[in-house]
Amino acid sequence: MGENLVSGEKGVFAETAHNSYTLPSRYYTDEDIHRQELNKIFQRSWLYVGHISDLPEIGSYIADEIAGQPVLVLRGENAEINAFFNVCQHRGHLLLSGRGRTGKRIVCPYHAWCYGLDGGLATARMTRDVVGFDRANYGLKPIQHTIVAGMIFINFDPNAKPEDGDLPEFEKTILCHLPHMPEYTAHHRLDFDIAANWKVIVDNFSEGYHIPIAHPTLATLYNEKGGTSQIGKRYGFYQKTAKAGFAGFETKGDEPYLTWFLWPNLCLLSLPGSPQLIVLRIGPNGPIRSLEHADIYSPADVSTSNLDAVKSLFAEMFNQEDIALVESVQRGLSSLGYDQGRYVADIKGSWFSESGLHAFHKQILEDIASEH
Ligand code: FES
Ligand SMILES: [Fe+2]
Repeated sequence: MGENLVSGEKGVFAETAHNSYTLPSRYYTDEDIHRQELNKIFQRSWLYVGHISDLPEIGSYIADEIAGQPVLVLRGENAEINAFFNVCQHRGHLLLSGRGRTGKRIVCPYHAWCYGLDGGLATARMTRDVVGFDRANYGLKPIQHTIVAGMIFINFDPNAKPEDGDLPEFEKTILCHLPHMPEYTAHHRLDFDIAANWKVIVDNFSEGYHIPIAHPTLATLYNEKGGTSQIGKRYGFYQKTAKAGFAGFETKGDEPYLTWFLWPNLCLLSLPGSPQLIVLRIGPNGPIRSLEHADIYSPADVSTSNLDAVKSLFAEMFNQEDIALVESVQRGLSSLGYDQGRYVADIKGSWFSESGLHAFHKQILEDIASEH
């Protein structure tokens, strides 16, 4: 960080969690900082869109707004996955919306320019007299993408390389613990509109310090001692173990309770006693709002009752508890009554402390300060 020291009313954000004051509250409210995050973080990072099983057939698509950009990911004629900006190259109307299956052509709803599933412009009405018009110059703008353990990631930066970040390490741990992840399918898909900056939600996910207090039921699911942590620059992986006899999960004790964080906005959770994966994507929606998309993926052979137990524990209990927490924190951050606190981080960087929170903030500041 060096010359890019950031400070607030109490002190400086420091290199190590134990010496540092927290990120000043303007980082959670300021329009300009938010714009810089979109430009320097979201437009240069690998961002999760969905799983390959969400695109089962030729023409299946996901149209979504990701960090303010309209994105279209679809399965093309050769069954390959393609990603484009979801923007017609005539006058800019958006092409598809939601999820579904299109035919062999994507037809713009405005003047019916037609694109193939490879993004090429196939037909454009009444263009015979348009001087120098060449359909080859009006294909959809591609977005680069990669697939990791069956999960589709896009990157708006055409020069980004999947192997440069922490994606390979992430892939290794996902496939080690959930080796059939590429064959998983979504059983539940839930959206939450949350009145908090996207970082408040990631912050909350990255520390277990609050769990015994704010999630009394969830706290009875895992052992408070032990567990391992792996905190990288743009990646975190935490493994804890389950307690026996948690209702609905048939835990015998010591089954793994796994959480991952993948920069910048992906939080994953695999509860013990079930091989499901809850994939949380936190989408910024202005400086003080976010859309949280939660997809629960699972192999086909898991019982419905087990999946329902996962869904109800997550969606009806602890995610609701978390939403109340983060919305309250946002109100505090937006007030005149708070600017900075301290990171409560232990030396070994455990998930039960706030070590991962500090690592996340350090990367935010480093990327915002970067020049290119
Ligand atoms: S904007 Fe798409 S056809 Fe005109
Ligand atoms: Fe929580």
